[in-house]
Amino acid sequence: MLYHNLLKPILFSLEPEWAHDLGTKVLQITGNLKPATSCLRKLLQSDRHPVEVFGLTFPNLIGQAAGLDKNGLFPATSEALGFGFVEVGTVTPLPQPGNERPRLFRLPQDNALVNRMGFNNSGVHALVEKILRSFPKGKRSIPLGINLGKGKSTPLDLALNDYCEGFDAVAKQADYITINISSPNTPNLRQLQNNEFLEPLLQGIKDHREKWSKDHSLKSPPCLLKISPDENFKNLEQIVSKAVENNFDGIIACNTTIDSSCIKFSKSVPTGGISGRPLSIKSNEVIRFISKLTNEKLPIIGSGGIFDYESAQRKLDSGACLLQIYTSFIYRGPLWPSRLARRIPLANSLI
Ligand SMILES: Cc1cc2nc3c(=O)[nH]c(=O)nc-3n(C[C@H](O)[C@H](O)[C@H](O)COP(=O)(O)O)c2cc1C
Repeated sequence: MLYHNLLKPILFSLEPEWAHDLGTKVLQITGNLKPATSCLRKLLQSDRHPVEVFGLTFPNLIGQAAGLDKNGLFPATSEALGFGFVEVGTVTPLPQPGNERPRLFRLPQDNALVNRMGFNNSGVHALVEKILRSFPKGKRSIPLGINLGKGKSTPLDLALNDYCEGFDAVAKQADYITINISSPNTPNLRQLQNNEFLEPLLQGIKDHREKWSKDHSLKSPPCLLKISPDENFKNLEQIVSKAVENNFDGIIACNTTIDSSCIKFSKSVPTGGISGRPLSIKSNEVIRFISKLTNEKLPIIGSGGIFDYESAQRKLDSGACLLQIYTSFIYRGPLWPSRLARRIPLANSLI
């Protein structure tokens, strides 16, 4: 109520990225106040129905999607707010400024956001330093995913180098790693989903993980592939088959869509990736397709348009075993993850 009646009107009166930066600051400061986070944790954490997926224990099914905390500034606050896991990033090997502002837009009539951020981030090495300082492995109660991208100026045929550099930097701190080849706002990134690039990329990542394991005498963290909702089913089948062939541990379905036909009420739609309620149906179709294709054997993290209990349940019914939210966190506020986690405790848990 406090968020809906007071904080949201203030935040929504600000330019969207300013509001995002202000929210980030508040969440970051909260994370540094140990009594505040432990109090929030006691009130909001939900771990009555943990699930095991790709060898990790998740205290609940509701995760924070990539992009909300690109630089790993507030994972301890997200943990205290009741998320069952947090994915930080996307990070690239070098820091980069992203696209020109304005690059984030609200479509309130559709409960949606449109963004063309373009992987603005402080770089993977800065992220790892932050994680080591404020949310290190062994001192967290929820899994941490780290989402990797390629730099804007890296040509597609050298993308593998960026993902491998990212992998090496984060592998000891990440509980899982996401290979993001589906953001619509880095020029040509989505072409990595075409077979010409996909095959060598996924094979290269597989080889790199095996070599890393051997060199460090450690098991590689699970690797997930984050895919776009805008591929046709033929391409989707190829992407998922290649991911399975190359030992990927799961799929995140999906990233944002560039198909503005899902927007029903807003008069104009800026260029960029659409997230939030309008993405729900498309994302569920993709999840259902992958689930069927893999005989429900490949873990799927469902992302896209979870806005209420019903849409979360529909994602699980479509075949997802974990869920991620971004846009509904902005629209519904900081208590939303814990409310959702308490209401959606029963998953199709894949062990
Ligand atoms: C402003 C914004 C920035 C995002 N940045 C990233 C990103 O850096 N990497 C990524 O994999 N996904 C990114 N996403 C996509 C989200 O992680 C999520 O997959 C998508 O928004 C669908 O979920 P939602 O409908 O709950 O928002 C971003 C989304 C938004 C709205």
